[in-house]
Amino acid sequence: MEKVVGVLQKYGCAKENLIQIMLELQKLSGNNCLPKDWVAKVAETLELPLSKVYGVITFYSMFHTEPTGKYFIEVCKSGPCHIAGAENVLHMLEKELGIKPGETTPDGCFTLTKSSCFGACDIAPAIKIGEKVFGNLTKDKLKEIISSCREGL
Ligand code: FES
Repeated sequence: MEKVVGVLQKYGCAKENLIQIMLELQKLSGNNCLPKDWVAKVAETLELPLSKVYGVITFYSMFHTEPTGKYFIEVCKSGPCHIAGAENVLHMLEKELGIKPGETTPDGCFTLTKSSCFGACDIAPAIKIGEKVFGNLTKDKLKEIISSCREGL
């Protein structure tokens, strides 16, 4: 709980910093998720209803309440990416990683998910891994990206 208190103090225990607080805590969690007791501590300290804090967490796709793989892969399924071949990208990733959307590889390396547009329509089809966006994807490019993630483990 020390980490939570530290982050809350860093942001002045201010309600308006809720998103930054949660982002930093998620990074500190070590498994890319927000543990229930941490969320409860934040809600209590900021004097916000727990339901409101969960409302924020579940609204933004960048927040997770369950542990994810080290690399959280989002495949954009919105219009422009869909037209440019998002379905093929998803199938290639499913085949390469051996998992379906919503699943994590047994080694805890990758979590695969579908997402809506994250603003990279000009380089469709696009995926996002953490904060990094990759576009104009081909089978070779995807293999390259995945193997560089594996090497980074
Ligand atoms: S439609 Fe895929 S990033 Fe915008």
